Amino acid sequence: MGKVYLVGAGPGAADLITLRAARLLEAADVVFHDALVHPDTLAIAAHARLVDVGKRFGRISTEQRFINRALAEAARNHAVVVRLKGGDPMLFGRAQEEIDALAEAGIECEVVPGVTAAVAAAAALRVSLTRRGIARNVAFVTARHGPGEPEAEWLAVARAADTVALYMASGQAAEIAAQLVSAGRAADTPAVLVENASLPGERRLATTLAALRDQPVPRFAGPVLLAVGEVFRDADAEILPIEQARQKTA
Ligand SMILES: C[S@@+](CC[C@H](N)C(=O)[O-])C[C@H]1O[C@@H](n2cnc3c(N)ncnc32)[C@H](O)[C@@H]1O
Repeated sequence: MGKVYLVGAGPGAADLITLRAARLLEAADVVFHDALVHPDTLAIAAHARLVDVGKRFGRISTEQRFINRALAEAARNHAVVVRLKGGDPMLFGRAQEEIDALAEAGIECEVVPGVTAAVAAAAALRVSLTRRGIARNVAFVTARHGPGEPEAEWLAVARAADTVALYMASGQAAEIAAQLVSAGRAADTPAVLVENASLPGERRLATTLAALRDQPVPRFAGPVLLAVGEVFRDADAEILPIEQARQKTA
């Protein structure tokens, strides 16, 4: 009986995975990976059969039940099975469903952490998420909830936290900004959007909650991290005002 490793692929750049992740990829017999995992990262798994089980922007995903079954089946036939997930597997990555299903099937499982999008975005901006004197906490939040799932109480958390990292938020950025302001967060609170953090197509946009609420949000082709908080007021000079970015995109 083999073992399944839930491995963090980091935010995109192939050299932002851990050494442990790279060694497991080299040794892997089968790799089940998300759609966002970079081809250079997959190339490390030179001997493995690669199975894409990811979804991207509403395209049909491979059903979670199928993934759980396929992981268990692969571990019955191979020594090293890697389930490669974008960023860190334990944040917004449905890791728990897979861990629980493997435990139920009696298959050993180990988790290898990765660099999550929020910290990759902070690195891209060269802004500390917990800048001393300004922020003493960070919330990892999503406003998304699946069909049948209770609506997460994201707003109360995002209202209260000093720094908020919002995942899967770019499509609803204006609505999120409006809700945060209505909930009492200052309209001039800095907000940043980082697209493709760590990748060559990286883009960093600076704005405020009011501008995000009132101005058209640019279109994004890659994954985007929305972050809100005072720490971003002095963010990197390269950052474009949202209006300028919109013109550039048009
Ligand atoms: C399903 S969540 C998975 C998060 C992942 N487990 C992590 O720890 O980063 C996907 C979201 O992560 C964010 N994301 C992932 N990679 C990113 C990147 N390179 N740049 C910016 N945001 C990214 C986006 O908000 C995207 O919608």
